[in-house]
Amino acid sequence: MARILITSALPYINGIKHLGNLVGSMLPADVYARFCRAQGHETLYICATDEHGTPAELAALKAGQDVKTYCDEQHERQRQVGEGFLLSYDHFGRSSSAENHALTQHFAQKLMDNGYIEEREIEMIFSVDDGRFLPDRYVEGTCPKCGSDKARGDQCNSCDTLLDPTELINPRSAISGSTNLEIRTSKHLYLLQSKLEGQLKAWVDSQHHWPNLARSIALKWLEEGLADRGITRDLKWGVPVNREGFEDKVFYVWFDAPIEYIGATQEWAKATAQKDPDKAWQRWWRTDQGAEDVRYVQFMGKDNVAFHTVSFPATLIGSGEPWKRVDVLKAFNWLNWYGGKFSTSENRGVFMDTALDLLPADVWRWYLMANAPEGADTAFTWEQFQSTVNSDLANVLGNFVNRIMKFCDSKLDGKVPEHGPHTEVESKMLTELEGMLADLTRQLEAMEMRKAASTLRGIWVLGNEYLQEAAPWTAMKTDPERAGHVVRMALELAGLFAVISAPFIPQTSQVILQALGRDKTILSWPTGSSADVLTALTAGASITTPPVLFQKIEDEQVAEWTERFGGAEQELAEPTEA
Ligand code: MF3
Ligand code: ZN
Repeated sequence: MARILITSALPYINGIKHLGNLVGSMLPADVYARFCRAQGHETLYICATDEHGTPAELAALKAGQDVKTYCDEQHERQRQVGEGFLLSYDHFGRSSSAENHALTQHFAQKLMDNGYIEEREIEMIFSVDDGRFLPDRYVEGTCPKCGSDKARGDQCNSCDTLLDPTELINPRSAISGSTNLEIRTSKHLYLLQSKLEGQLKAWVDSQHHWPNLARSIALKWLEEGLADRGITRDLKWGVPVNREGFEDKVFYVWFDAPIEYIGATQEWAKATAQKDPDKAWQRWWRTDQGAEDVRYVQFMGKDNVAFHTVSFPATLIGSGEPWKRVDVLKAFNWLNWYGGKFSTSENRGVFMDTALDLLPADVWRWYLMANAPEGADTAFTWEQFQSTVNSDLANVLGNFVNRIMKFCDSKLDGKVPEHGPHTEVESKMLTELEGMLADLTRQLEAMEMRKAASTLRGIWVLGNEYLQEAAPWTAMKTDPERAGHVVRMALELAGLFAVISAPFIPQTSQVILQALGRDKTILSWPTGSSADVLTALTAGASITTPPVLFQKIEDEQVAEWTERFGGAEQELAEPTEA
């Protein structure tokens, strides 16, 4: 038994996330957490909302709320929709918590003491009418290269050129459109990442076991050389800097957000009334307090990798304190919406709350993991969604469970029959099952979600094939004992499917276990031979056939949803105005 710490990238606070956010962070982390718990590992799955920064301030402004009220509400919405998606966080915290404030200030102090922080005066664009400094991406204007009039201060999305805001022709504020802009100087703290480059490189180099995507992104950043990084901003909402001359400044959101992984663990220790809260969180995070034994796994989209492999480790290493660092970093490519991007600001694609209005969480969970963007970017289409749901869930798993339970109901009075002797048919099935179970376990351990889903589906297919071949409905007429044995095996298989499918489709798993009269609270991952794992039921016990597990998605629904949410031919929706 091991101790496993799991974090998923913290969803930003500005509204409910779309399926593209879910698929690369919270959902795979949840599948993995459920799997680890079933294996008997002591598991802690931590997430939180990422609440600071300019976008939060602006979203609050647009909503006509003060930032704190806005964040309170949005956090609660995200918490609820996470629950709706059955995300089994041990704690869902907030980067605006007192814990994270204190920790962020602690890290800054340590970095300062160790000579890794320097004060610098820089020139920035100040919008007089907005009364604020503008981060690069909030300056808009004409691209000096291609002439597009929608270029942003950090880059032009028409020609992909990286820009400096001062290069824009006719610059204006993206917030108000005002052209009343000035260049002003402002003092900021810089984290001297260049000084930490050697230590960071040595550490990343030694992480041979990281999956490819994460490792290659990290190495690329290090090869380009590490620039020192401004870690403060001219904003009101955030973690105060506590330093003379910095009264109107806070730490940069990307400085405090990853620290919240630790902050949220402290929040968890308090919220769950651990006997000794300090000890409780430290054994996950301080290598001098037992965290040396922890296996720490992070989940995130590929745009987050640099922050987790370079910036956050720079903070941890630079503190000079014994903090736990990531052991395995699982990154995902993009899930696109047809040919284009999901977009929060442009409201394109399906968002978590709407998804749950249409269909149960399990259906989405299965589709998303079976088609997870692991090797490359992938695209959501309603047609692919329909075919995955109908063929895997309705026709294979749902069909198997309903068929055998109905049969047992009508022919055997809904009572679990006695085991009989195995024949060739069982031996063959059991051998195959054993190999596939081993594959599934290995793939989940490696967090290869697509492969794992495909193996799991193969196991469901095996169940159907067994039933087809052993044909209890035929045996019933000539050899009721033999038929009883087949039914027993199939019922046991249904129970096994519930256990091994639980990481992906936890709700359905509970329904199946309940129908079989099995304990729903103990989900132990099968180990040992396949024959051993098919012994959970008791002869004579009653079963109750559940309603159809999965409704098929009809063509009419696909047509309706394509119309409503857009699809291939739809024009890009205009950004919604407040
Ligand atoms: N909110 C960020 C994003 O959506 C992710 C933050 S991850 C953290 O890309 F570790 F920094 F919190
Ligand atoms: Zn351009």
